[in-house]
Amino acid sequence: MEKVILTGVKPTGIAHIGNYFGAIKPAIELGAHFLFIADYHALTTVKDGKVLDGYVKDLACTWLACGLDVAKTCFYRQSDVPQIFELATVLSNYTAKGLMNRAHAYKAAVQDAAGRGVDPDHNVSMGLFNYPVLQAADIILFGASGVPVGQDQKQHIEMSSDIAKAFNAVHGNVLVVPSALVTKEQAVIQGLDGRKMSKSYGNQIPLFASESDLKKHIKRIVTDSSLPSEPKSTDCLIFQIYKLFATPAQVKAMEKRFASGIGWVEVKEELFVAANKVISPMREKYEYYLKNYHEVEAVLDQGAKKAREVAERTIRKVRKAVGARCT
Ligand code: TRP
Repeated sequence: MEKVILTGVKPTGIAHIGNYFGAIKPAIELGAHFLFIADYHALTTVKDGKVLDGYVKDLACTWLACGLDVAKTCFYRQSDVPQIFELATVLSNYTAKGLMNRAHAYKAAVQDAAGRGVDPDHNVSMGLFNYPVLQAADIILFGASGVPVGQDQKQHIEMSSDIAKAFNAVHGNVLVVPSALVTKEQAVIQGLDGRKMSKSYGNQIPLFASESDLKKHIKRIVTDSSLPSEPKSTDCLIFQIYKLFATPAQVKAMEKRFASGIGWVEVKEELFVAANKVISPMREKYEYYLKNYHEVEAVLDQGAKKAREVAERTIRKVRKAVGARCT
């Protein structure tokens, strides 16, 4: 049977170039069957409805601008598919609480509380605790067998697989058991300060910053204090970022210039030109979609319709298996 590939993205802020090279571009190249915006997952952290709505719009425009092919990939919003939440309720009865106790995000919250000497479940909502069950429902409902995710999400996929197996152990082979799709090691893109590029570190280069903003961010990349005439090692952050955007020939040429001595100002100018060349056609599309959001809405509605059809087929099997009303 053909592998069904599905992945979800949480809308929690504007995309940065780390998201683009680490997640968006590889997922688009992989051509997943289903790709959705996990808006209800974002509720663990985003509590302002207007802000969440803005993040969802931004994310949808970003993926379309980056070239997601919606003829191949069913692109939808999680909250448009109520069967997901029905399945999550059912699956929670086949999920050991002990399994959830081991989830990284929950454990981190408990540890944080211990460090501050407060109650272990301080700041732990049931949404956070149940997060892996909801994610399992996202995956299992669509019969997904392959879920491309970064290292940080592997545990969630293993939990989804455990949950599907627990259900099948009672009801027979009703659900497809998913597994993480281990593609080539996902590149960790470093941020301006050399740590992993992340919104929470404030070290990001936004993907769709204006040209002048992009320039400003590039200027802030930390370099050493060597003089322009001094040879430089390519083992540095700015070269890593340059490699993401430049062609192989440009990378070779830049290596030579590093060896013979080049000023950081010049390197940064070259980086800006290379980055802007990649980004500007996408930025134009992104701005177009933001302005013409009704077109994006139409794509998501179309995706939701198809997603609900697939979802309904699985949920009917589940209702029947557990003895719920099934007309
Ligand atoms: N938890 C994922 C993240 O934080 C998002 C997500 C939700 C997801 N449901 C999913 C990813 C299903 C893959 C499959 O990035």
